[in-house]
Amino acid sequence: MEKELAQQELARQEALSTEAGKLARLRTNGRQPIAFVRTYGCQQNVADGEKIKGLLKRMGFAFTQTAEDADFILFNTCAVREHAQERVFGNVGALKNIKRRNPSLIIAVCGCMTEQEQVAERLKKNFPFVDIVFGTHMIHRLPEMLYKVLKDSERVVLRGGEEGEILEGIPVLRDKTSRAWVTAMYGCDNFCSYCIVPYVRGREKSRDPSEILREVGSLVEEGYREITLLGQNVNSYGKNLPAGSEKINFAELLRRIDRLEGDFRIRFMTSHPKDASEELFEVMAGSRHIPHYIHLPFQSGNDRVLSEMNRRYNREQYLALIRKARELMPDISFTSDVIVGFPGESYEEFQDTLSLIREVGFTNLFTFIFSPREGTRAAKMEDPVSHEEKTKWFAELLKVQESCAAQICRKMVGNTYRVLIEDRNEKSGLLSGRTESSHIIEFPGEDSLIGRFARVKATEGKSFLLRGELQKAE
Ligand code: SAM
Ligand code: SF4
Ligand code: F3S
Repeated sequence: MEKELAQQELARQEALSTEAGKLARLRTNGRQPIAFVRTYGCQQNVADGEKIKGLLKRMGFAFTQTAEDADFILFNTCAVREHAQERVFGNVGALKNIKRRNPSLIIAVCGCMTEQEQVAERLKKNFPFVDIVFGTHMIHRLPEMLYKVLKDSERVVLRGGEEGEILEGIPVLRDKTSRAWVTAMYGCDNFCSYCIVPYVRGREKSRDPSEILREVGSLVEEGYREITLLGQNVNSYGKNLPAGSEKINFAELLRRIDRLEGDFRIRFMTSHPKDASEELFEVMAGSRHIPHYIHLPFQSGNDRVLSEMNRRYNREQYLALIRKARELMPDISFTSDVIVGFPGESYEEFQDTLSLIREVGFTNLFTFIFSPREGTRAAKMEDPVSHEEKTKWFAELLKVQESCAAQICRKMVGNTYRVLIEDRNEKSGLLSGRTESSHIIEFPGEDSLIGRFARVKATEGKSFLLRGELQKAE
C-alpha cells in the first residue's frame, strides 16, 4: 500500500512539474528558464544534487555555472562542521544583491543545514529573499514547491517527513559521464557523539536490492565505468529494507553486483569499522569489479576517545580489521577520516592517533579539527584545549600523514597501473585518473582518453599524487 502511495505522489509531482515548467517559462517571457545549483558536502549530497537537477531538467530548465545568469538559484547545503555552515550563510547572504538586480529570481536553500530547527528559523527570519527552504526528505516535492512560488509568490518551507517509503524513480541528471553515484542506503543510526548527520538525515533505510541492481545494470549499459554505492554507513546495508524486499546484507549485495557483465568498477563509501565483516573482505578479494581499496574511517587511535565518540570499536579491533583485509588482499589500500581535538582529548591520546596512522599507512586521510554541533552530545562536553593548540596538533598530524603517503607513493614508482581517466587537471594541463588503490595519477595525453581505462606507468611519486606516462589505452 505504501508503495502505491509513493507512486501516486511521484505521479502528482510529475503533473505539477509540467505546470511549474509552464509558469517558469512565462516568467522568463518565453525563454528557457536557467538554473544554478550549488552542492556542498559529501557524495550523498552530490547524489541529491543530481536528483534536483533531474527534476529541474524535467521542468524544462537549462543550467548555468554562473549564479548571475540564473532564473533559479539553489544551494544544497552541508551541516557537518560549523565553519562550513557559516560560509554557506555568507554565500546565501550574497544572493541578496543578485535578487535586487533581478527581482524575479527565485532562491532556494535545501540540504542538511535546513533540517536543523535553528537554521531554518534563521533562514526564515534573516534571509527574507530566500523563497524556498526544504529538507533532505523533500527533494521529490521540488516541482510542487516551485509551482507554489511561481503561482502565488509565497515562501515555501517544507521540512521533516522522513517516515514514508524510499521513493524510486526520481529523475537524475548526472554530472559525469563515466562515474556515477548510486545510493544504497539513506540516513544513519550510529549517533557518533560529535556528528550531526543522524539528526539531519534521519534513520537508516536500505533500498530494495533489486532496485539497486537494476540501476547499476543500466548505468553499466550506458557506459559508466565506475559506480560508487553510497551510504553514511553503507556496510550496514540490509537493515530496514522496504517491506517485501529480499533480505540480504552488504556483502551479498556486492556479490550480486559483481556478477553483472561489463567493464566497470564498483566502489562504496562510507564503511563503518563496526560493520566491516570478514565476509565483506572475502567478497572484495574474490571479485572481478571491486578494487582492493576501502575507505574506513577510524576517527581516533585512542580507546578512551573512541569510546567517548561512541564509535563502538577500539584501536585493536580496528587494527585487526586492517590485518584481516591485508591477509586476504595483500595489495589493498586504505583511506580514512580522522578528528583532531575531540573534547577532552589530551596530547598523549592524540599521539595514539599518530601511531595508528604510522602503523596502518593510509593512502590518504581526510582530517578535521573537532567542530561542536548544536544538539550533539559532544557539543556539551568540556573542551579545555584551545583551538590554537589543536591547530598545532593538526599540523603535526599532516606531517606524519604526508611522510607515510609519500613512502607508499614512492614504492609505486616503476609499476604500471590500470587507471580510469577522469578529467584534465586545469593547473597542470595533464590528464588525471585514479588507480584501483584510489591514487591520483597525472600524465600527458589526449582528451579522447577521458572516461576510458588505460595502462599508465608511475614515473614519479609525491605525497598522494603520482606522475606517470601512458602505456596503452584500452
Ligand atoms: N559516516 C561516515 C563515518 O562514519 O565515518 C562519515 C560521515 S561525515 C559526513 C564525514 C566525516 O566528517 C566523519 O568521518 C568525521 O571525521 C567528520 N566529522 C563529522 N562530524 C564532525 C565534527 N563535529 N567535527 C569534526 N569533524 C566531523
Ligand atoms: Fe556521523 Fe557516525 Fe553516522 Fe558517520 S557513522 S554519519 S560519523 S553518526
Ligand atoms: Fe554534510 Fe549532510 Fe553529507 S551534513 S557531510 S552533506 S550528510
